[in-house]
Order: sequence, then structure tokens, then C-alpha cells
Amino acid sequence: MHAVDLIQKKRDGQRLSRSELEFLITGYVRGEIPDYQMAAWIMAVYFQGMDAEEIAELTLIMARSGDTLDLSGIQGVKVDKHSTGGVGDTTTLIVTPLVASLGVPVAKMSGRGLGHTGGTVDKLESIPGFKVDLSPEQFITQVNKIGLSLVGQTGQLAPADKLLYALRDVTATVDSIPLIASSIMSKKIAAGADGFVLDVKVGAGAFMKTEAEALELARTMVQIGQLAKRETVALVTDMNQPLGRAVGNALEVKEAILTLRGEGPARLTELCLELSAEMLLVADITNSRSEARRMAEENFRTGQALGKFRELIKAQGGDAKVVDDLSLLPQAGHAKEVLAPAAGYVHKVDPLVIGVTAMELGAGREHKESVIDLAVGIELQTEVGDHIQKGQALATLYANDRQKLEAAAAKVLQAFEIADGKPLLAPTIYRKITAKEL
Ligand code: URA
Ligand code: CA
Repeated sequence: MHAVDLIQKKRDGQRLSRSELEFLITGYVRGEIPDYQMAAWIMAVYFQGMDAEEIAELTLIMARSGDTLDLSGIQGVKVDKHSTGGVGDTTTLIVTPLVASLGVPVAKMSGRGLGHTGGTVDKLESIPGFKVDLSPEQFITQVNKIGLSLVGQTGQLAPADKLLYALRDVTATVDSIPLIASSIMSKKIAAGADGFVLDVKVGAGAFMKTEAEALELARTMVQIGQLAKRETVALVTDMNQPLGRAVGNALEVKEAILTLRGEGPARLTELCLELSAEMLLVADITNSRSEARRMAEENFRTGQALGKFRELIKAQGGDAKVVDDLSLLPQAGHAKEVLAPAAGYVHKVDPLVIGVTAMELGAGREHKESVIDLAVGIELQTEVGDHIQKGQALATLYANDRQKLEAAAAKVLQAFEIADGKPLLAPTIYRKITAKEL
């Protein structure tokens, strides 16, 4: 087999077999196929696409290109969730204890964030003492004991994806649906769960800008799951404004705790309940959609979900008192309110502007090596559809560097569009994609 023939085949719109994909990907990971040939093949994929089986084969080859997690020591159907990334998205901190409190074993590895705000692991580290670096044995023992563990990534999961992503980044081939779908699903499959619930964001603050693109990505990933024998469900959800009201690590932990207490923002709460219901169905805790939703609501109401979050914090060495006393979370030294320049309805809260400004306040990493400040960020006081008075607070900014507050306040003000007349409200969830509907 020769790489040049496989490049030509894809260039001419033909499909590659499993052994041909294996030759390309494993050869590339071993350093036997050079970047220039892989780049040419990726560009051919960008223009010619791949069929469903081909995408699934590519995904499985990438998933097996390095370490894989063996979760077979955990009883039950292990379900993982994934979000394609949005602003004010603290769903993992809410959904995982909720479903764990209902019997779904969750053994979840999360990354650190790059850009906007920290990742789940960064957010958890704002809880004093919380350890995210458990050994694989501790990780599995904890899930068997309390049903839940959230840790940072260890080992070399899907190194083929790491190499391909870096190559795509410099060859203008990131936005190819087969390549995005296989990239995401290869990492999820390597992390060992039996089924997945995916949150595919669409809108101004998301990777996918249109509903059509988001639907195609969702369908492609659900199809990969089906062909790889892992039940997968995707929700296509709105990211035209931040999901929750908090953007920043400790601020998002605080919002997660408030939401687990039943005091969270409506859109965040609704999405968490829906994602949880889907996880209960994938895990076969129930076969009834309405029962799944009822169970999720009940464990919010009774405090079981919050109790599970407390158990998680204790099990991983953190100070569980934060759940009852939010002032134990890191607090910023300075705060500033951004005030409405005029009365009217909020028509827009640009999620990208909010995300980037939170990062500039220190909540996210501009570079891999940046050190993040867990206390800082933005708390929105209003959302699209609210009627506000002139001088009313739109948002509160938190910083440890007073200098940064002024510039950030001006930017956050730009994120808001205030006008007369009620705006149309986007739904929180646009579509649900299951294997049945493909
Ligand atoms: N996120 C990923 O993990 N991979 C992609 O290709 C795009 C977004
Ligand atoms: Ca099921």
C-alpha cells in the first residue's frame, strides 16, 4: 500500500477501506507517513467527504491509536456526556451528580480549558482541596463506591486525533464535519463509556453557526455511535447567548450549586434536566421518557443530586462545606457593575464577547501555559427577553486586577443590544437526534 494511492483515491471521491484507513492513520502516528501526505489526504476529505461507515472506521482507528480506558470493572451501563463547547456551560457539574444519584455510573475525564473559560477540571479546582488527578484504580474504585468521579485526562488518549487536529489547524481543514465528528467521538470512545449524550451547540458562541451544520454534526456523531455499538443521543442546543449567568471558574461552581439547590437560571436548569433524562434512558435506568424526566426533577427537588455533589467533593479531597457556604469559594478582590445606558428589552447578549472578556479578566487561558485566576469572571444580571430600566445592572464583573475592570466593562456593554419591542426568544433545545431518527 502507498499513501499516494490513498490520497488519489480520496481526491477522486472514492471511499477508503478499513485497512487503508488503518495504514494511513497508524503510519502517520508512527511517523512513517509525512505531514505533507497526511495534509493532502485531509484536504481531499475536506472536499470529498466520507461515508458513514468510513467515518466510523476512522473514528475507531483513532480511538485505538493510544491508551484506552477499561471501565469494565464498573457495574452497569457507563454513560458519558460531551458538549461541543459554549459560554456559561456548567452542565457537567450539575448533570453528572444528578444522574449518579439515580444510579447511572459516571466515570468522566475532562480537559482543561483553552480560550473562553476553564474546562470542567479547572472549575472543580476552585473548590478548596479538590483533587482531579486520581490514578485509574482510584477513579474506578470511587465510581463503584459513590457512582461518580470527575478527573483530569491521564495517559495518551487518541494521540492520532492530537496529531491530526494540529495538522488541520494549520491547513484550513478544521471545519469538516467528518473530521470534527471523528475527532470528538474518538476521544469519547477511548475514554471507555458504553453510551454518550452529546450537547451540540449552535449559534454565535458555538463552533457550528447554523442549525443545519449543527444537525449534520449531531447526526454524524450519533451514526458513529450506532456503528461503534455505543448508544448515542444528541441534543442541538442554543448558544446565541450564554447558557447560564456565570462565566468564570468559581462563579460557575457557585451557579452549579445554586442550580442543584433548585435556584438556578431557567434555561440552564431546563437543559440539565433534558440531558439527564437522556442519560437515564441510555443507561437503561428506565425506558420511559416521561419517567426519566420525572426522576430527574424529583432528585433536584429532594436534594439527592446536591447530596451526590457533596459526596463527590468529599471523595476527591475537597471541602464539602462549600455546598452550604458559597463564600468558601475563591473570591475576587474587585467588582464592577455594567449599567444599562437606556431602558428597553435585551435583544442580544453576545456569548463570544462575554467569553473572551471573561478570559481577558483571567478566567480562561489565552495560551496553553497561561495561569488562570479561579475567582474572576462575569455574572450576567439579565438575559435576552428581559425588560430593563436605564441604570439597571446588566452584569457584574469580578477581577483581582482593578486595571482590567474598566476595559472589560466597556467590552461587556458592547455585548448587549437593547431595543424597543419584545425580541423573539430562541428555544433552549432545537432538536433531539437518536439513532432511530437517522
Ligand atoms: N473539537 C474537537 O475535539 N475536535 C474537532 O475537530 C473540533 C472540535
Ligand atoms: Ca436505552
